[in-house]
Amino acid sequence: MTESAPTTPYTTNNAGIPVESDEHSLTIGSDGPILLQDHYLIEKMAQFNRERVPERVVHAKGAGAYGVFQVTNDVSQFTKADLLQPGKRTEMLARFSTVAGEQGSPDTWRDPRGFALKFYTEHGNYDLVGNNTPIFFVRDPSKFQDFIRSQKRRPDSGLRDNDMQWDFWTLSPESAHMVTWLMGDRGIPKTYRHMNGYSSHTYMWVNGGGERFWVKYHIKTDQGIGFLTQAEADELAGSDADVHRRDLHQAIESGNAPSWTMYVQVMAFEDAPDYRFNPFDLTKVWPHGDYPLIEVGRMTLDKNPEDYFIHIEQAAFEPSNLVPGIGPSPDKMLLGRLFSYPDTHRYRIGPNYAQLPPNRARSQINSYAKDGPMRYEPANAARPYAPNSYGGPDADTAAFGDPAGWAAAGEMVREAYKPHREDDDWGQPGTMVRQVLDDAARDRLVSNVSGHLKAGVSRPVLDRALQYWRNIDKEIGDRIAKEVNGS
Ligand code: NDP
Ligand code: HEM
Repeated sequence: MTESAPTTPYTTNNAGIPVESDEHSLTIGSDGPILLQDHYLIEKMAQFNRERVPERVVHAKGAGAYGVFQVTNDVSQFTKADLLQPGKRTEMLARFSTVAGEQGSPDTWRDPRGFALKFYTEHGNYDLVGNNTPIFFVRDPSKFQDFIRSQKRRPDSGLRDNDMQWDFWTLSPESAHMVTWLMGDRGIPKTYRHMNGYSSHTYMWVNGGGERFWVKYHIKTDQGIGFLTQAEADELAGSDADVHRRDLHQAIESGNAPSWTMYVQVMAFEDAPDYRFNPFDLTKVWPHGDYPLIEVGRMTLDKNPEDYFIHIEQAAFEPSNLVPGIGPSPDKMLLGRLFSYPDTHRYRIGPNYAQLPPNRARSQINSYAKDGPMRYEPANAARPYAPNSYGGPDADTAAFGDPAGWAAAGEMVREAYKPHREDDDWGQPGTMVRQVLDDAARDRLVSNVSGHLKAGVSRPVLDRALQYWRNIDKEIGDRIAKEVNGS
């Protein structure tokens, strides 16, 4: 007699062996001691104890999805990158995040948002690891660690501390542009779908003829910009800390796939030395009037990850993933980041992180890498060394041998960038306050800044903060001082 097939599969252990019970450990008699030979119980406990990888040191809380990037305009005169050729469609992964908060922190804290993209191109993974801001707080990578520590928790109390934040910002005037942005409406987006992304950095593009260009990316939301007021954000932080993760997941689940249109600003290679701002200074934008936006394509996120941990938590974005046709620029921050990300992935996920599903290139991988913890794909080369005479891969120098780069010479120094004629820390944020914001947005800026300053910032940091805002704009500074001092 044959039994009918069970409607649910039977439980197994990790080796596929059927288990005897989902609920009861193996004991001597029903009230008796537990036996060490209950290897299934031990496997369950051991597996559980190892469920986490360390959270990202920054950008720990986020959300992500898969999608596709479709080129809509011909930019082949500027780059030979295969994903940017006319009509090309490339699969991709996106992860959005807050910066300072931990894994469980509310999505609606005031913070920049990460905007990390991975394109699975024919020449390997291209990662564009940007933010929802076209600028950043500091311009030298040696200040990044100090900056982040000032935004995170104090060693003594374990608390975040506004005094610490303003102490760092006011001692680092290059932060003024980004702080103005952060304290304005865009410091708390309505959802991840309602914000723009920017490369922030300048990158190099190289065309098929070897000509070089400097570019900045702008990835504008097709849903329209939306923001939360401080009061709305505070309420949501308590009632639904995961509101932005939920929103992205539900929008895609319900077939309402969000999209963004990618544009670039393109600067001729030779224009850089004499441009009025240092084009590689991450605290500056290139005004649209100088370099207008050129459309490139559209990205649409239409597929939720089937397993959040595998695809989003273990996703490893790295600005050093640059494909032929795209290179770095002399932006010191970018050059620092090229080292930092693969280094943190080797620690956070493990040295073979590139083999995991979200990180695995979908083009051919002919690397000589082998072995190491948790490696599960066989090494590619028949002989694991180059050169070899047994058909191992050879670098195609004719096709890929020219690095995207620039000439450099000089003494070794530790110095700030040489200023260009309009470089200063207060000019561009002043323009934003006076010319971009309207009256209502300026009112909210004053309210946001004074609220933040009144929450635990003490003299002398407070006095410096008031002067900092007067340097950005005298009137806004005076209004903030009045709110803070009550006169
Ligand atoms: P534009 O008037 O051409 O551009 C101003 C841009 O400001 C808009 O296109 C928009 O960027 C952005 N913006 C609008 N509202 C806000 C807000 N509440 N907070 C932050 N940004 C906002 O002028 P310029 O290009 O000459 O730039 C003037 C100032 O605008 C700059 O100093 C800078 O502070 C800011 N800005 C400039 C950008 C650039 O790349 N040129 C980009 C963003 C801001 P978007 O269309 O990207 O949403
Ligand atoms: C995440 C370092 C500046 C955008 C990270 C991580 C590190 C790091 C170590 C964690 C990565 C991980 O564990 O997966 C640095 C350093 C910087 C810098 C050293 C400056 C020198 C920037 C800037 C931007 C940026 C300027 C945006 C333009 C991001 C994003 C993530 C991230 C989006 C999250 C990536 C993801 O979603 O996994 N950064 N960062 N960072 N950083 Fe930076």
